[in-house]
Amino acid sequence: MKDTTTDGSSRRFDLPLPPPPDALRIGPLREGTFRSRLHEPRTAVVLGRWLGAAIVLCFLTGLLSHGLQEPPGWLRALLTSRPVDGYRVTQGLHVIAGTAAIPLLGAKLWTVYPRLFEWPPARSVLHLLERAAIAVLVAATLLELFTGLLNTLQWYPWPFPFRQTHFWLGWTITGALLLHVAAKAATITEHWWRPRLPLPGRRAFLGTVAASVTAVTLTTAGQTVPWLRGLDLLAPRRPDLGPQGLPVNRTAAQAGTTTVPADWHLTVDGPTPLRLS
Ligand code: HEM
Repeated sequence: MKDTTTDGSSRRFDLPLPPPPDALRIGPLREGTFRSRLHEPRTAVVLGRWLGAAIVLCFLTGLLSHGLQEPPGWLRALLTSRPVDGYRVTQGLHVIAGTAAIPLLGAKLWTVYPRLFEWPPARSVLHLLERAAIAVLVAATLLELFTGLLNTLQWYPWPFPFRQTHFWLGWTITGALLLHVAAKAATITEHWWRPRLPLPGRRAFLGTVAASVTAVTLTTAGQTVPWLRGLDLLAPRRPDLGPQGLPVNRTAAQAGTTTVPADWHLTVDGPTPLRLS
């Protein structure tokens, strides 16, 4: 007997499990409900790697943006606004990775969803805790990607503040993801390398997911990558569209600042100070 089960849990969990009571052998709890061969660990590991990379990239670029917008005292001297288009690169990568994570999350959840109907739902307190952490991971990731996507459309149909929620969900996902990877470490290691015998259909499935991610990326990345502008069919905005060739998130009228006092002015400090009416 191996030291670990396919989900990386310890040998204690490898004992024969009680079958579900007859009354519960209905719907997805019936044996043989999930027929696809692709609900298996190697597919989960490959998709997990791609999804993990997208999420880590989002987290790091998000932290950088947050640090630049609200620098903590001790970091103020290190963070600079140079190079001037650096924010466009990091924020562009953030949105590209977040958008790519949407089809990746869909494919990953499709691969593993039969495990939702495992019997018994928890084999020990530790297993119950692991599953609770996964529930947090899935819920937080779904909410983060959904609200993040709507944010690119400047649409906020919820009562909570977007930026703070986005920030703390990012930390929640990162913590829950670390727990998830640690709990599945044995399975991840076992299925990290390509197996000698390919599983029929897996390559086609992963190829389709990769093609969807490429299509979504190419049709949205033009909102920040100038040379992809011709392809940005699904991008919510164009960086060169707006007064003076710059996009405007919200006009003064939309922001409700229609009356500006006559003595209003903007002072720009620097080697050559400016005072603009
Ligand atoms: C936001 C990111 C992720 C989400 C939402 C997610 C979600 C899930 C869910 C819901 C399960 C089924 C859990 C269960 O056993 O009850 C699962 C299983 C698994 N995940 Fe993830 N996961 C993510 C990232 C990753 C990463 C980065 C890896 C590592 C490469 C990974 C590897 C695995 C493995 C190996 C399994 C077990 C598959 C099996 O035994 O059939 N996941 N994941």
